[in-house]
Amino acid sequence: MFEKQEFVISAYKLSQLPKDNLPEIILCGRSNVGKSSFINSLFNRRNLAKTSSFPGKTRSINFYRIDDKFYFVDLPGFGYAKTSLKERKSWGTLLSQYIKTSVNIKSAFHFIDSRHKPTDLDLQLNELLKFNEISYVVVLNKIDKLTQSELSLSKKRIIEFFPELILGDNLFLYSSTAKRGRKEVIQRLTKLFY
Ligand code: GTP
Ligand code: MG
Repeated sequence: MFEKQEFVISAYKLSQLPKDNLPEIILCGRSNVGKSSFINSLFNRRNLAKTSSFPGKTRSINFYRIDDKFYFVDLPGFGYAKTSLKERKSWGTLLSQYIKTSVNIKSAFHFIDSRHKPTDLDLQLNELLKFNEISYVVVLNKIDKLTQSELSLSKKRIIEFFPELILGDNLFLYSSTAKRGRKEVIQRLTKLFY
């Protein structure tokens, strides 16, 4: 299980999406929240997905095929102010077209920084997922940055925003650097695909 992880394509337009119709899990959320790092940490790979300490690293829709069973789809983050308006528009169009048209999206992992409350863009993303009837989980990320009591507050706050979240079911606490939450996520993927 999780023995084969292949980078397949960076898509800049819908015509470049893979055509093998495997189910997809999309990784979405704010820029710099740790989506690409998540892929590397989950599979103990250093450079499978490109990461950066500067926001705006991932610019295209990146497909990683896992065990020939499913794709992780690493999406560009939103909310990166320095990107030009033109570029932001073209990603926005590509992303919303992809989310609307892909029939293979099985689930979304919505990454939220555990140190901050969800932003307006997080709320919009949540709406977009619900509108397109995509089942989602929230990954409350970078929990290594919090003390135990801050983590409790963070958990409480996210459930206030999204009352449907249940820890271990559709809410995961994660840290790529401290490798926390990995077991729970792997269990979830196993249930979905194996
Ligand atoms: P975009 O590609 O811009 O959308 O960003 P991203 O969400 O893919 O973020 P990325 O994985 O590139 O990580 C951004 C920064 O956060 C990097 O400096 C990572 O090392 C750091 N980071 C990622 N995950 C964690 C984590 O769990 N804990 C801590 N402390 N830092 C993390
Ligand atoms: Mg990225």
